[in-house]
Amino acid sequence: MPEPVKVTVFDDGPIEIQGPVTVYNEFGKVIATYDEEETLYLCRCGHSNDKPFCDGSHDDTGFCHKVRPKEE
Ligand code: FES
Repeated sequence: MPEPVKVTVFDDGPIEIQGPVTVYNEFGKVIATYDEEETLYLCRCGHSNDKPFCDGSHDDTGFCHKVRPKEE
């Protein structure tokens, strides 16, 4: 059984995706594919010049968002 895709949301940074993944645009066109050995970073700060991928711009923009589990 293949390993599940792992998604990690970094404090003040991108979303990391590890595992085989294909990224599509809203029209179903493939933007990029990654195998199980590769790691993908998606921008969540809105400042990347390579959206939807992170280009490290979050470091220069002061993007600040901590991710914590919701209280039950
Ligand atoms: S999260 Fe890295 S550029 Fe937006």
